[in-house]
Amino acid sequence: MKTIGIYHTKGGVGKSAVTVFLADFLASLYDKRVLVVDLDPQNNAAGGLVGGEMLENAFIDQRSLPRLMDPATYANPDKATVETFLLQRPEQKARGKTKFLAPVSVLAGSRADWDLWMDWLAALPMDSQANYFELLSDCLKPLQQDFDICLIDFPGSQSRTLAKIGMRAAGWWLLPDKPDWFSSGDLDVPVGVVHEAQKNSPHRIRPLGTLLNICPNRGSTSYRKARASLQRLSEDGGIPPLFSKSSEILHRPEALNALDKNSSDARTLVKRYGSTTSPFYTGLRNLTKEVLERLDEKHKAPSLSVLAKFRRNLADYWR
Ligand SMILES: Nc1ncnc2c1ncn2[C@@H]1O[C@H](COP(=O)(O)OP(=O)(O)O)[C@@H](O)[C@H]1O
Ligand SMILES: [Mg+2]
Repeated sequence: MKTIGIYHTKGGVGKSAVTVFLADFLASLYDKRVLVVDLDPQNNAAGGLVGGEMLENAFIDQRSLPRLMDPATYANPDKATVETFLLQRPEQKARGKTKFLAPVSVLAGSRADWDLWMDWLAALPMDSQANYFELLSDCLKPLQQDFDICLIDFPGSQSRTLAKIGMRAAGWWLLPDKPDWFSSGDLDVPVGVVHEAQKNSPHRIRPLGTLLNICPNRGSTSYRKARASLQRLSEDGGIPPLFSKSSEILHRPEALNALDKNSSDARTLVKRYGSTTSPFYTGLRNLTKEVLERLDEKHKAPSLSVLAKFRRNLADYWR
């Protein structure tokens, strides 16, 4: 199983949207066995995939990720235990050439359980929090052979420790970013967290890609400036290399349709994402293909190096 952390400290850059889109296309177009881990109490990604009702029922049954990540109840849970926490979008009966939405498995938690879990975490002395960085990774270990790709969705800023726990379970980092200064201006924050998640550990996070998302008109000044500055930051080794323009996600009304919790009963990719020739659909297909190619790359990905001058460059490049 290859695990991708879809991580930025900013909210609203499309982390959850990208998680849902990639899960759908990887599973339904490329037949990958996909697991989605939703670390956000809002459950936008989990709800978009399995629907609000399935989530509510699971939480009533106490099948909630922060419960699984409670070391007092389950330390190093075994496969049978972890499997009881998996929610699955049901299989559709495929007919002919139509691409039906394939099953996707999800781990998610209720807000109440996350609140309790965060309180437990916050009460720990700072220097012992690092002892729990492997909590998620320990929960995913028993599933390594059962899935091809795992996507981890993160909440906006809040807990750096939760972000480190998430990235400690991730082998690759996908950084979604909106092409505007609000989203790019404090990129040194997620870069710092990714570095801290690897500190004092053999764990290495490979830079999968920086994805421009919710893109306005590509001719706009904001888009061109953002792309140029992110390109230079990635060349400096600060952030993952940019995905190609044909993989970028446009600002489209179809995105809202696909993310609607009530659209989780749409049965085919086309019903959910529009015609296979539409710019939105073809963009997502390109992105999925590029993600798979980058995951398979044989050459060693360049390691990320935080630059002391990162913040200054960030501002300089934007000018
Ligand atoms: N490609 C897109 N086009 C238009 N709206 C989008 C697109 N991607 C995401 N959105 C919308 O933008 C908002 C932020 O996206 P979301 O995935 O929730 O971000 P995050 O998870 O980073 O907070 C949501 O309202 C979502 O529906
Ligand atoms: Mg989100």
